[in-house]
Amino acid sequence: MQIVNTVEEVRRQVKAWRKEGLSVGLVPTMGYLHEGHKSLIDAAVRDNDRVVVSVFVNPTQFAPNEDLESYPRDLERDAALCEAAGASLIFHPEPSEMYHEGYSTFVDMRTLTQVLCGKTRPIHFSGVCTVVSKLFHIVTPDRAYFGQKDAQQLAVIRHMVEDLNFDIEIVGCPIIREEDGLAKSSRNTYLKEEERKQAVILSQALKEGQELIRQGERNAETVKKAIREKIETMPLANIDYVEIVNFKTFENITELQGEFLTAVAVYIGKTRLIDNFIMTL
Ligand code: PAF
Repeated sequence: MQIVNTVEEVRRQVKAWRKEGLSVGLVPTMGYLHEGHKSLIDAAVRDNDRVVVSVFVNPTQFAPNEDLESYPRDLERDAALCEAAGASLIFHPEPSEMYHEGYSTFVDMRTLTQVLCGKTRPIHFSGVCTVVSKLFHIVTPDRAYFGQKDAQQLAVIRHMVEDLNFDIEIVGCPIIREEDGLAKSSRNTYLKEEERKQAVILSQALKEGQELIRQGERNAETVKKAIREKIETMPLANIDYVEIVNFKTFENITELQGEFLTAVAVYIGKTRLIDNFIMTL
């Protein structure tokens, strides 16, 4: 497995693979890889002849008050995980390789990005769409892999691919959880011991919501209220949002029907965690 830092090196390698008629999968990441990322790489290795994993903590998707500087990084560990999973190449650029001096082009989406995480993190999805577009142009993969834990991101990327005519199949992969149900995330490493214990409330509350729906509840407000109340039983939990939206339009729904996303964002101490489930009725 190679580790390269420049756009030119990636392009040269992908061109060589293409000449041999090989297919290419891309797993975009910000590093500090865990089993959630591994499941994306595993899927990519299954579907493609060669797999590129990008490891880049993208500065344009962080607001000045967010955790860009403290975001965990460990390339050596990431490289070992990628190699064991069967990836062919890690693209690990410096910020200046992705955003040269005077960089000024951004990809902004006018729907889907103003709600849920976009409300609290107004520049986030512009940064995500910009860097993912750049990675798509650099790697030109046949397929790209994203986790359902970031369900809004997955929907935004799918929409962008359609809008901008990228000839790339977007593959969504299921959420990978810790034994107690907490969704795996690089940010879980921020949690202190007591916070980690209380963080389990996100998945527990969502499970209760799901159970209510299975028992026949169809009123979105009732389900959201039950989820909110469950989360509020934990003293360190501070709710950012609990929302139920149509999974295509991201508009709020009052009556549960069709394909909908139930998503939560909760601060546990200072750490903001997200989780969700998607259901079709
Ligand atoms: O999900 C992430 O880790 C990031 O948002 C992504 C897609 C790698 C873009 O920086």
